[in-house]
Amino acid sequence: MCIPFRRPESENGSSAGSEAYRPYIRPPSVSDTETMSTSAVSPHLSRQTGGVQLFTPLRIRDIEFPNRIVVSPMCQYSCVDGFANDWHLVHLGSRAIGGAALVIAEATAIEPRGRISPWDLGIWKDDHIDPLARVARFIKDRGSVPGIQLAHAGRKASTDVPWRGGGVVSESVGGWRPVAPSAIPFSPASPVPAALTTPEIHEIVSRFAEAAQRALQAGFEVIELHGAHGYLIHEFLSPLSNQRTDEYGGSLENRFRFASDVAKAVRAVWPATLPLFLRISASDWAEDGWTLDESVELARAVQLLGVDLIDCSSGGTLPYVPIPSADPGYQVPFAERIRRETGILTGAVGLITDAQQAENIIRDESADLVLLAREFLREPYWPIKAAQELGVQIPLADQYKRAFPNVR
Ligand SMILES: Cc1cc2nc3c(=O)[nH]c(=O)nc-3n(C[C@H](O)[C@H](O)[C@H](O)COP(=O)(O)O)c2cc1C
Repeated sequence: MCIPFRRPESENGSSAGSEAYRPYIRPPSVSDTETMSTSAVSPHLSRQTGGVQLFTPLRIRDIEFPNRIVVSPMCQYSCVDGFANDWHLVHLGSRAIGGAALVIAEATAIEPRGRISPWDLGIWKDDHIDPLARVARFIKDRGSVPGIQLAHAGRKASTDVPWRGGGVVSESVGGWRPVAPSAIPFSPASPVPAALTTPEIHEIVSRFAEAAQRALQAGFEVIELHGAHGYLIHEFLSPLSNQRTDEYGGSLENRFRFASDVAKAVRAVWPATLPLFLRISASDWAEDGWTLDESVELARAVQLLGVDLIDCSSGGTLPYVPIPSADPGYQVPFAERIRRETGILTGAVGLITDAQQAENIIRDESADLVLLAREFLREPYWPIKAAQELGVQIPLADQYKRAFPNVR
């Protein structure tokens, strides 16, 4: 039987014409003709997990994650003036098609000088909202949760794209002077950053809150604050990059203050129904640097401010630090300890590539979510393959069903 083509403009309540660029999501099927305009149930949710923990849902606040697999934020260095474009739609959208529970858009700068490179994604002005909304809407329509990482690169700002070597982009060719807690450069090749004044710190905190409001308007349902990898929030935490003598430096409480201020300001504008994550580097891997013990304390502190999950990465404060053992899942013990000692939810990230490995992390309660980055660049449909390997049925996009005859 031939079903007449119908653009599913009412699928998410949008009206034809008002969103002319809205992508065509799903071809109509017989049952869709009855349910298309009313179905709000995630297509990833109706599946059998047969005891496999990786594919059990997780609820945080009012958001139901259909499984435990997350696309870790990954800079794409593909914007002009911070605007999301077709690259972001296809890059993030295809991983939502692949069945990830949560797709987190890359480090998104809350002000222009907070970009790692001039080509970073941005959310510092209202004009950024519409193109981001297009991406968030597609992810949500595919049954995944759209998330965004809010970031400020601090002293590691104004660098070139990695595929050209990632060197400094100087002010004479369109770069800018980075800012930081203290005037200490990241590496001998980096510019000396301007140490932020207290009013400037307060302004940046406000920029984070404004960015969160824009993220909400764009339709994102998870915010992750980027407090890892040697960028601004981490720079305040680590004594290697923060040598301030005011209330933002010195004692642990003082070094926590910027992260806490940002978490508080964002939580104040981010609805109580929506999750807030914080990514940290759980260790600087360096003598006199930020430690796992301090990370545990930070997790306790921000939990009280409404942070729901700590995404546990590591490193980034110093350019050349030997990591004792970069084996598969080498950062999982950070997630495990922070979870066990504080009771906060955690995410494990770093060299997670294998379905059984990911399943073990969730089953052993080392973490509540697994985040994959490079493996998702190799395999956008990793969750579908993991489900097959673990013998779990997960719903597929209708358009792709012929490639997986044994899957619903
Ligand atoms: C291309 C690329 C871009 C990245 N950009 C970000 C980013 O924007 N924010 C972030 O917190 N981490 C970023 N990361 C780090 C990843 O999110 C992840 O933590 C890291 O790659 C380890 O996970 P993996 O072993 O699964 O790749 C990036 C990694 C890659 C490969």
